[in-house]
Amino acid sequence: MTNRRTVFALALTTAALPITAIWRVGAQTGGPPPVQTTTLVLGQSLPGLNDAEKADFSAGLASFVTTEQRSDGLGPVFNGTSCGECHKAGAPGGAGLDVGVARVTRIGGIVNGAYSDLANFGGPVLQARSLREFDLSCPISGEVVPREANFVSLRITTPLFGAGLIENIPANTILARIGMRDPDGISGQPNMVTNILTGKIDVGRFGWKAQHSNLEIFAADAYLNEMGVTSSIFPNENLPQGRPIPPGWGSTGGPEDEDGDVAKFSNFMRYLAPADRRLPITPRVTQGEAVFNGIRCGACHTPVMNTGPNPVAALSNKPVKLYSDLLLHRMGPGLADGIQQGQAKGDQFRTAPLWGLSRRGFFMHDGRATDYASAIMTHGGEATAARNRFMSLRPPDRDALMAFLNSL
Ligand code: HEC
Ligand code: HEC
Repeated sequence: MTNRRTVFALALTTAALPITAIWRVGAQTGGPPPVQTTTLVLGQSLPGLNDAEKADFSAGLASFVTTEQRSDGLGPVFNGTSCGECHKAGAPGGAGLDVGVARVTRIGGIVNGAYSDLANFGGPVLQARSLREFDLSCPISGEVVPREANFVSLRITTPLFGAGLIENIPANTILARIGMRDPDGISGQPNMVTNILTGKIDVGRFGWKAQHSNLEIFAADAYLNEMGVTSSIFPNENLPQGRPIPPGWGSTGGPEDEDGDVAKFSNFMRYLAPADRRLPITPRVTQGEAVFNGIRCGACHTPVMNTGPNPVAALSNKPVKLYSDLLLHRMGPGLADGIQQGQAKGDQFRTAPLWGLSRRGFFMHDGRATDYASAIMTHGGEATAARNRFMSLRPPDRDALMAFLNSL
């Protein structure tokens, strides 16, 4: 990447100023969510980083919000021109601000009786945009869903706050939950994935189906699949719709990530503070938390797990208040998208972490819900009993539950 890029004004100001987000308090029991003007600092680095780690965070943030050009390796097909274009609700690293820009299409199919990512037809992730946006002479268009796709799934952008803490929860801590006896018969399954950097098998924990265990690999995957930039981890260009790239429009030899961006993105995500600062804990919120536990939402939405030892003190032996067990659960035919990722089957999803929920506008993997009650109502499969108990809550308990979710 020789041509330097346009850096958002944001990247320049963040070094000096904390980003203060005005966050919209999400859904209540119905109607449009009220806008609360409480301010909260989002997008800061983890407390307790040393100077070198802080410098890595800032450099990573700058790369994360940098708009890439064709000369940087962007394209030929892509979904966004920077990581920050999609991950931006509240601060760089956040969820998608809307479902339009920040929702991505995944496809899958059955070929000769077996599940296929449909790589020969442009899968598994479609890139909807192409360099033609900037240069009309580009012979390649954005990808469309091919006829061969039996499954089409929309995915909204997940937030990255606290990602380094999630990465550092020991596999055994996550696996320990599986055998626990549960009155609703919920067990959960890990998505065991191979870390292609170390060759070791680990518990997947990132993405809607827990498809990756490691932030550097996710970053390289996103660089390729969302932006069309190849790296040493994923050196081969995606073929638009599975067809060869006309000469001059794709990578010419070596990986396009010449500046170590993948490592920089990982540093930013690893050192990004979690969105676990709660709104004031009122008696109603405390009552709502008891309801949450009482109707057994916590069977999957585990309130807290701890990180293991880490050379980075800020990541070492810390509580992670994520409200997720990071396991896959069968969620019923209403949510099933048919897509398989690693060991995750078509109806399985990772328990979505609930920290930072009040700073989000869209819920569930495809963003179909815009308030908490509708999000809960989509729960089926293993979550059916909990959802039914939610439906029979008395109004004061239901309101208290909403207040609790809104405090996250
Ligand atoms: C076009 C929008 C878009 C762009 C650009 C984008 N992402 Fe994402 N990101 C998503 C979506 C959608 C998901 C959820 C994917 C899924 O699980 O199916 C996601 C998920 C992630 C996750 C998983 C977090 C978690 O816990 O679930 C990481 C890590 C991530 N992105 C990093 C990056 C990085 C680094 C970049 C820049 C190289 C980037 N993303 C660019 C849309 C985008
Ligand atoms: C069997 C496990 C399980 C139980 C029990 C469960 N959930 Fe979930 N929850 C999930 C999974 C998995 C997702 C993501 C599914 C998807 O996106 O398709 C999710 C998503 C959510 C979301 C949306 C979060 C987001 O990021 O989009 C909310 C809110 C939520 N659950 C609240 C609750 C509440 C409240 C209860 C109790 C009534 C509950 N859940 C019970 C597994 C569970």
